Amino acid sequence: MIRTFITGDGSLGLYNVELDEIYHSKFGAKTEAYEKFVEPVLNIKNPRILDICYGIGYNTKTAIEYLNNIDFIDCVEIDEALAKNSYKYEYSDSVNIIIEKNLKNPDFIHFYFEDARKTVKNLNKKYNIIFHDGFAPYKQPELWSEDFIFAVINLLDKEGIYVTYNHSKPVLNALNKTGITIGKTIKNDKYIGTIASFNSDLIKNKLSDFEIEALNTKSAITYKDKDLSLNSLQILNNRKKEIEKSPLITLSAFIKKKKGNSVI
Ligand SMILES: C[S@@+](CC[C@H](N)C(=O)[O-])C[C@H]1O[C@@H](n2cnc3c(N)ncnc32)[C@H](O)[C@@H]1O
Repeated sequence: MIRTFITGDGSLGLYNVELDEIYHSKFGAKTEAYEKFVEPVLNIKNPRILDICYGIGYNTKTAIEYLNNIDFIDCVEIDEALAKNSYKYEYSDSVNIIIEKNLKNPDFIHFYFEDARKTVKNLNKKYNIIFHDGFAPYKQPELWSEDFIFAVINLLDKEGIYVTYNHSKPVLNALNKTGITIGKTIKNDKYIGTIASFNSDLIKNKLSDFEIEALNTKSAITYKDKDLSLNSLQILNNRKKEIEKSPLITLSAFIKKKKGNSVI
């Protein structure tokens, strides 16, 4: 069951009762879409967008509002009914009309109503913008496993930008394994998300050496889902076992050691 609530900026947010998980930031659903997803990609020319976890489409709608000359947008959402009604949720009428039209008769926006793990395996094009907006990893790790992230990053153009709100250690570690340059999305001095690109010139606030080194700790052990087929519980249990057996030091021990060596 899905409930609605009003977020901090007055825009509507959704809450999933079964998962006990919110779809949108309580500080502002619309603000989140702009600050974490669209603002970091404002300079990308002729956007070719992959919107993973479309929901009611705040990220896509905000992209349509702020980005020029969009080539196409591919949206992935497992909850078909939710996405098909997304044009009824508040946004400017002009944008919602575009969404409604494309849901009924796809023009430059295409929808994949399926498990994103299936979509990323089958897509064979490159995007210069990828939005990744799954529920929290401890609720739905299947959308944050290193294997899923490898498949997502494989779809990113060399000059493209990947963005997510997530900056947890396992997610950063998975990204780091792809060789991509990782940066922090900073707003009003707050660390609010992750931006990554193979063109390091596109990344302003790169992770520091210390932050990269901290990925070699137990806290940063990635979620694993080799065939993109495990369920949430299996992935969480496997990671728990891997952490228990791991010879890596804990994040707190790493920080203590670095403080001792006065590197931080
Ligand atoms: C945090 S919400 C995304 C909010 C969305 N970006 C918006 O603007 O409304 C996560 C979304 O992921 C969808 N989802 C969950 N598991 C999925 C999966 N395996 N594949 C695709 N979508 C999934 C949920 O139905 C939900 O709409």
